[in-house]
Amino acid sequence: MTLLYKVYINAAEKKNTINPNIYGHFAEHLGRCIYEGIFVGEDSPIPNTKGMRNDVVAALRQIKIPVLRWPGGCFADEYHWKDGVGPKQNRKKMINTHWGGVVEDNSFGTHEFFELCAQLGCEPYVNGNLGSGTVQEMSEWVEYITFDGLSPMSDWRKENGAQSPWKMQYFGVGNENWGCGGNMRPEYYADEYRRYATYLRNFSGNKLYKIGCGSNGFDYNWTEKVMEIAGRFMDAITLHHYTLPTGVWQNKGDATGFPEEEYYSTMINCLKMEELISNHLQIMNKFDPEHKVGLIVDEWGTWYNVEPGTNPGFLYQQNTIRDAMVAAITLNIFNKYSNRVVMANIAQTVNVLQAVILTEGAKMVLTPTYHVFDMYKVHQDATLVGSYVDSGTVEGHNIPNLSVSASVDKDGALNITAANLSMTSSAPVTCDITGMNPKSITGRILTGKVDAHNTFEAPDTVTITDYNNAKIQDNNLIFEIPPNSVILVTAK
Ligand code: AHR
Repeated sequence: MTLLYKVYINAAEKKNTINPNIYGHFAEHLGRCIYEGIFVGEDSPIPNTKGMRNDVVAALRQIKIPVLRWPGGCFADEYHWKDGVGPKQNRKKMINTHWGGVVEDNSFGTHEFFELCAQLGCEPYVNGNLGSGTVQEMSEWVEYITFDGLSPMSDWRKENGAQSPWKMQYFGVGNENWGCGGNMRPEYYADEYRRYATYLRNFSGNKLYKIGCGSNGFDYNWTEKVMEIAGRFMDAITLHHYTLPTGVWQNKGDATGFPEEEYYSTMINCLKMEELISNHLQIMNKFDPEHKVGLIVDEWGTWYNVEPGTNPGFLYQQNTIRDAMVAAITLNIFNKYSNRVVMANIAQTVNVLQAVILTEGAKMVLTPTYHVFDMYKVHQDATLVGSYVDSGTVEGHNIPNLSVSASVDKDGALNITAANLSMTSSAPVTCDITGMNPKSITGRILTGKVDAHNTFEAPDTVTITDYNNAKIQDNNLIFEIPPNSVILVTAK
């Protein structure tokens, strides 16, 4: 049966600016994300600039990466930053106990991270160690990075080659402190947050944006207690939500070759992001009625069984059209709540979980998720406009047929991103536009079989192509989205 899907967009109903940081990324010392994926060292035969892979940096610049979170994740709460500065041959080695028990040689540290951000043209987001580090250590890290005067830390930074301090706004005070960051109770973490945050100073004109550790998905009690006790000392609180097809950690489901029911359960689990954001915001509102505290979803994405034959601690997984759907739906949700969701960071940038890039030696592959970020970059810094979708639910499944978001950019172009969640039915869309009279229309599409993916042998199996079948009719935009596909329509 062919259904007609109606979307109503009011280009004159201007909401907030979409914070580019919603399109942010996360890179942890985990598996082959930092080492091999991003940093190969200056002596590598892989083309690099100061040790950073040129191909990966160029690809991330292309999607306008706005912000990068580092060094973890769970790794953050056992990372001692002083071991990662100074001459490389003297840097202390450690065991990365969370991720495969491998040796971390600390060759990528603070200086390398700020060099990477400079090459990417993105904001740094540093996550401090509250779980196993001291107040003094965290406070001195901020001094080392941002102080522009005579001080022990500033002098040490200069000795290590950086005469000027760096600018750093985003600073996380611990990560998942309800779990790998110390197994704390929310009351205890909230008190610890207050103590650590007190000594994070604003030096030399640098203004820190302090981020408190938020909840694990549906743990609303954590947000309630942390907001009550420490909310007024923070600029933002975080939320983590991963999408597991089966919902079971022992057997999460495979990244490729999955059954139809796991495609739909993945959609259901990723759609829970909206419920989570909405409920956490309501709790935050109780303690922060003026909405001073932002919500940051600094870990999100799919989490599958690792690829067969790879180190289970490295979290390496393939990435298919199903992942592109998860990215499209989630980013549409972030846009919708972009008046309060001030940042989000997909986990993780390269070779780990829902990566946008995979590497093997000198080879690099852009995943379907990468292409969604490429299509959606038009929303960065644009104005969210009102939209309403009347599309019903996918036959036999309690999920909507369509996920849609619309914004107007600074030149007045209307950009609509839409995903068809059905695995079987095409979605013929009529988009009723008020508030503007479109004269021209263009489109781009990402489509393919639901488990289509890119490999090092066939890197362009899934890629963006032009979509030329959109038309304007009586101030309506008419287009059709194939099953499990993502589309960008631009009207001017
Ligand atoms: O992204 C992988 C891990 O997931 C992070 O280290 C941790 O914060 C979360 O549990």
